[in-house]
Amino acid sequence: ATAPPQGGSIVLVGLMGAGKTTIGRLLAARLNLEFVDSDEEIERAAGCSIADLFQKYGEAEFRRGEHMVLRRLMSGPPIVLATGGGAFMDPRTRACVRENATSVWLRCTLPVLLERVQDRTHRPLLNVESPATVLSDLMRARHPVYAEADIIVDCGDDNVEHSAEKVLGAI
Ligand code: S3P
Repeated sequence: ATAPPQGGSIVLVGLMGAGKTTIGRLLAARLNLEFVDSDEEIERAAGCSIADLFQKYGEAEFRRGEHMVLRRLMSGPPIVLATGGGAFMDPRTRACVRENATSVWLRCTLPVLLERVQDRTHRPLLNVESPATVLSDLMRARHPVYAEADIIVDCGDDNVEHSAEKVLGAI
Protein backbone atom coordinates (compact mmCIF):
# COMPACT_ATOMS: atom_id res chain seq x y z
CA ALA A 1 0.00 0.00 0.00
CA THR A 2 1.22 3.49 -0.80
CA ALA A 3 1.73 5.96 2.02
CA PRO A 4 -1.41 8.00 2.59
CA PRO A 5 -1.23 11.78 2.67
CA GLN A 6 -0.62 12.92 6.25
CA GLY A 7 -3.59 14.66 7.77
CA GLY A 8 -5.95 13.43 5.06
CA SER A 9 -9.30 11.73 5.39
CA ILE A 10 -9.90 8.34 6.96
CA VAL A 11 -12.22 6.11 4.95
CA LEU A 12 -13.75 3.04 6.59
CA VAL A 13 -14.64 0.13 4.34
CA GLY A 14 -16.10 -3.28 5.03
CA LEU A 15 -19.34 -5.21 4.97
CA MET A 16 -22.72 -4.21 6.29
CA GLY A 17 -22.61 -4.65 10.04
CA ALA A 18 -18.86 -4.14 10.37
CA GLY A 19 -19.45 -1.05 12.53
CA LYS A 20 -18.23 1.55 10.04
CA THR A 21 -20.71 4.20 11.19
CA THR A 22 -20.38 3.62 14.92
CA ILE A 23 -16.61 3.28 14.87
CA GLY A 24 -16.34 6.20 12.43
CA ARG A 25 -18.15 8.49 14.87
CA LEU A 26 -15.79 7.47 17.68
CA LEU A 27 -12.74 8.05 15.47
CA ALA A 28 -13.95 11.44 14.29
CA ALA A 29 -14.43 12.59 17.87
CA ARG A 30 -10.95 11.40 18.82
CA LEU A 31 -9.30 12.90 15.75
CA ASN A 32 -11.29 16.12 15.90
CA LEU A 33 -12.53 15.61 12.36
CA GLU A 34 -16.01 15.84 10.91
CA PHE A 35 -17.81 12.52 10.57
CA VAL A 36 -19.71 11.75 7.37
CA ASP A 37 -21.76 8.67 6.55
CA SER A 38 -21.91 8.14 2.79
CA ASP A 39 -25.33 6.42 2.92
CA GLU A 40 -26.77 9.51 4.62
CA GLU A 41 -25.10 11.79 2.08
CA ILE A 42 -26.58 9.79 -0.78
CA GLU A 43 -30.06 10.00 0.78
CA ARG A 44 -29.64 13.74 1.20
CA ALA A 45 -28.40 14.22 -2.37
CA ALA A 46 -31.12 12.01 -3.85
CA GLY A 47 -33.87 13.35 -1.62
CA CYS A 48 -35.11 9.84 -0.88
CA SER A 49 -34.20 6.79 1.17
CA ILE A 50 -31.76 4.12 0.01
CA ALA A 51 -34.59 1.59 0.04
CA ASP A 52 -36.56 3.84 -2.34
CA LEU A 53 -33.50 4.44 -4.51
CA PHE A 54 -33.03 0.70 -4.96
CA GLN A 55 -36.72 0.06 -5.52
CA LYS A 56 -37.49 2.93 -7.88
CA TYR A 57 -34.25 3.28 -9.83
CA GLY A 58 -32.34 0.06 -9.22
CA GLU A 59 -28.98 -0.76 -7.70
CA ALA A 60 -26.99 0.54 -10.69
CA GLU A 61 -28.41 4.02 -10.24
CA PHE A 62 -27.66 3.87 -6.51
CA ARG A 63 -24.03 2.94 -7.33
CA ARG A 64 -23.76 5.86 -9.73
CA GLY A 65 -24.95 8.28 -7.04
CA GLU A 66 -22.68 6.63 -4.50
CA HIS A 67 -19.65 7.19 -6.69
CA MET A 68 -20.50 10.85 -7.26
CA VAL A 69 -20.99 11.49 -3.54
CA LEU A 70 -17.73 9.73 -2.69
CA ARG A 71 -15.82 11.71 -5.27
CA ARG A 72 -17.20 14.99 -3.95
CA LEU A 73 -16.34 14.06 -0.34
CA MET A 74 -12.80 13.06 -1.30
CA SER A 75 -12.15 16.46 -2.85
CA GLY A 76 -13.15 18.33 0.31
CA PRO A 77 -11.47 18.92 3.68
CA PRO A 78 -10.32 15.90 5.76
CA ILE A 79 -13.14 13.85 7.29
CA VAL A 80 -13.77 10.45 8.75
CA LEU A 81 -15.99 8.72 6.19
CA ALA A 82 -18.08 5.61 6.74
CA THR A 83 -18.77 4.16 3.29
CA GLY A 84 -21.62 1.87 2.31
CA GLY A 85 -20.41 -1.71 2.04
CA GLY A 86 -20.40 -1.71 -1.75
CA ALA A 87 -18.67 1.62 -2.35
CA PHE A 88 -15.08 0.38 -2.30
CA MET A 89 -15.99 -2.27 -4.88
CA ASP A 90 -16.25 0.36 -7.61
CA PRO A 91 -12.77 0.62 -9.17
CA ARG A 92 -13.10 4.37 -9.78
CA THR A 93 -14.22 5.00 -6.22
CA ARG A 94 -11.38 2.83 -4.95
CA ALA A 95 -8.84 4.77 -7.01
CA CYS A 96 -10.24 8.07 -5.75
CA VAL A 97 -10.12 6.91 -2.11
CA ARG A 98 -6.59 5.57 -2.48
CA GLU A 99 -5.43 8.89 -3.89
CA ASN A 100 -7.02 11.09 -1.25
CA ALA A 101 -7.33 9.18 2.00
CA THR A 102 -6.19 6.43 4.30
CA SER A 103 -8.52 3.49 3.82
CA VAL A 104 -9.21 1.11 6.68
CA TRP A 105 -10.95 -2.24 6.29
CA LEU A 106 -12.89 -3.28 9.36
CA ARG A 107 -12.69 -7.05 8.96
CA CYS A 108 -15.35 -9.01 10.82
CA THR A 109 -16.54 -12.58 11.01
CA LEU A 110 -19.96 -13.66 9.75
CA PRO A 111 -21.52 -14.17 13.21
CA VAL A 112 -20.50 -10.67 14.27
CA LEU A 113 -21.86 -9.12 11.07
CA LEU A 114 -25.14 -11.02 11.38
CA GLU A 115 -25.61 -9.88 14.93
CA ARG A 116 -25.15 -6.27 13.88
CA VAL A 117 -27.38 -6.07 10.82
CA GLN A 118 -30.68 -6.16 12.66
CA ASP A 119 -31.43 -2.69 11.29
CA ARG A 120 -32.27 -3.38 7.65
CA THR A 121 -33.86 -0.01 6.84
CA HIS A 122 -31.01 1.14 4.58
CA ARG A 123 -29.98 -2.39 3.58
CA PRO A 124 -32.30 -3.62 0.84
CA LEU A 125 -29.76 -6.32 -0.08
CA LEU A 126 -30.52 -8.01 3.24
CA ASN A 127 -34.29 -7.93 2.95
CA VAL A 128 -34.23 -11.58 1.99
CA GLU A 129 -35.02 -14.90 3.58
CA SER A 130 -31.43 -15.70 4.42
CA PRO A 131 -29.23 -12.68 5.16
CA ALA A 132 -26.55 -15.16 6.26
CA THR A 133 -26.31 -16.54 2.73
CA VAL A 134 -26.16 -13.08 1.18
CA LEU A 135 -23.52 -11.93 3.65
CA SER A 136 -21.33 -14.99 3.20
CA ASP A 137 -21.56 -14.62 -0.60
CA LEU A 138 -20.60 -10.96 -0.25
CA MET A 139 -17.68 -11.94 2.01
CA ARG A 140 -16.33 -14.20 -0.70
CA ALA A 141 -16.76 -11.60 -3.43
CA ARG A 142 -15.64 -8.54 -1.53
CA HIS A 143 -12.95 -9.56 0.94
CA PRO A 144 -10.23 -9.78 -1.74
CA VAL A 145 -11.09 -6.22 -2.77
CA TYR A 146 -11.40 -4.80 0.75
CA ALA A 147 -7.92 -6.27 1.26
CA GLU A 148 -6.62 -3.51 -1.00
CA ALA A 149 -7.28 -1.00 1.79
CA ASP A 150 -4.19 0.68 3.25
CA ILE A 151 -4.85 -0.77 6.71
CA ILE A 152 -6.69 -3.89 7.83
CA VAL A 153 -8.11 -4.02 11.33
CA ASP A 154 -9.45 -7.31 12.65
CA CYS A 155 -12.43 -6.55 14.81
CA GLY A 156 -12.78 -10.05 16.27
CA ASP A 157 -15.22 -9.99 19.17
CA ASP A 158 -14.11 -6.51 20.18
CA ASN A 159 -16.63 -3.92 21.18
CA VAL A 160 -16.71 -0.83 18.98
CA GLU A 161 -14.59 1.24 21.40
CA HIS A 162 -11.84 -1.37 21.27
CA SER A 163 -12.00 -1.50 17.47
CA ALA A 164 -11.75 2.28 17.32
CA GLU A 165 -8.63 2.11 19.53
CA LYS A 166 -7.14 -0.45 17.15
CA VAL A 167 -7.76 1.85 14.20
CA LEU A 168 -6.21 4.81 16.04
CA GLY A 169 -3.17 2.69 16.76
CA ALA A 170 -2.82 1.66 13.14
CA ILE A 171 -3.23 4.93 11.26
C1 S3P B 1 -24.62 -1.84 0.79
C2 S3P B 1 -24.40 -1.42 2.09
C3 S3P B 1 -25.23 -0.40 2.77
C4 S3P B 1 -25.88 0.53 1.74
C5 S3P B 1 -26.59 -0.26 0.68
C6 S3P B 1 -25.69 -1.24 -0.05
C7 S3P B 1 -23.75 -2.89 0.21
O1 S3P B 1 -24.40 0.36 3.63
O2 S3P B 1 -24.92 1.36 1.15
O3 S3P B 1 -27.65 -0.93 1.32
O4 S3P B 1 -23.76 -3.08 -1.02
O5 S3P B 1 -23.00 -3.54 0.98
P1 S3P B 1 -23.78 -0.19 5.05
O6 S3P B 1 -22.53 -0.96 4.72
O7 S3P B 1 -23.52 1.06 5.79
O8 S3P B 1 -24.83 -1.04 5.69
